[in-house]
Amino acid sequence: MPSVKRIGVLTGGGDSPGINAAIRAIVRRAEPAGLAVVGFRDGWRGAVEDDLVPLGRSEVAGILHIGGTILGTSRTNPYEKDPATGTWTPTPKVDRILDTLNRRRVDAVLAIGGDDTLGVAHRLASHGVRAVGIPQTIDNDIGGTDYAIGFHSALAVVTEALDRLHTTAHAHHRVLIVEVMGRDAGWIAVLGGLAGGADVILAPEEPFSVPQVEEALQWRLDAGRRFSIIVVAEGARPLELGSRPVAEEARTDAFGHAQLGGVGYWLAAELEKTGLPLTPRVTVLSYLQRGGGATPFDRLLATRLGVAAVELACAGQYDAMVGFHGTDVGPVPLAAALAGCPKPVPREYLELARNIGVR
Ligand code: F6P
Repeated sequence: MPSVKRIGVLTGGGDSPGINAAIRAIVRRAEPAGLAVVGFRDGWRGAVEDDLVPLGRSEVAGILHIGGTILGTSRTNPYEKDPATGTWTPTPKVDRILDTLNRRRVDAVLAIGGDDTLGVAHRLASHGVRAVGIPQTIDNDIGGTDYAIGFHSALAVVTEALDRLHTTAHAHHRVLIVEVMGRDAGWIAVLGGLAGGADVILAPEEPFSVPQVEEALQWRLDAGRRFSIIVVAEGARPLELGSRPVAEEARTDAFGHAQLGGVGYWLAAELEKTGLPLTPRVTVLSYLQRGGGATPFDRLLATRLGVAAVELACAGQYDAMVGFHGTDVGPVPLAAALAGCPKPVPREYLELARNIGVR
């Protein structure tokens, strides 16, 4: 018999396709092992505000193919960053979480999310919370796992969009700039750009300049190509802006992240100034990348990670994350996974792009 009797599940940060598959797998693995499952609504907010729902087989029936998260999500952060030291200090919300877990007799928390959500899980471990993390973000920038839930589904959206944009770019002799998500790492831009046949890929890993892009477009014109597709990550860093990303607003979220966006339009305006005989047009894929159902790969990944997380909790292995390595699923200390954030796109992919003529 496991020492754990009741598991709490929550989903935090930006959602992604596949979360519901993980919740479903958790419940379906936990029930036969004699564990009860409750879900906290809207990430850590539900734990702070004692807002939870029981999760049984009937609550997770029919959700495998549905995007989003049946539990809702938020960027609630029970810690505050000390501006002087950069360290996170607990707010009164931490005590409220501990109180909720205690009163509701929740023995272990399975936190599904990105580095922010998992970072809170890790910090709570020092307050005695028994937490297991499940990596989820379309950005795929979490350390300790090859893939996070949702990335593959976002890639599928970007690839389909690029296929569609190719035909209209070709017809109108345009340069189409496609802005994709990816705050700190260019996984979506680089792998999506490769899968969709982009001509230029701009990722946060390598700051770029407008003359570099202009040269690539000119090269294509000289080769008789009368259109081009540029994929740019929202976090791409133009040298002209001091290698800093373009932020849509000055606003930051509870974890101190600026709301990025606008680099596509910025680049279009800069390219207009060059006098190249190509009309730039911008497509911002934005939340389309996070919406909709998960690909088969993400459903399988989420199912495996959900099951592994329950088994890890039953084995008493906490302050850990379940990760996907090669073809295997296994545990990683949360501290190690977080130390690897943001996980950059490996050089091999950047070189692969250059080796097949993508600038
Ligand atoms: O989940 C990660 C992410 O998709 C980033 O790529 C993006 O910068 C951010 O979320 C946007 O989040 P929000 O939902 O707060 O606008």
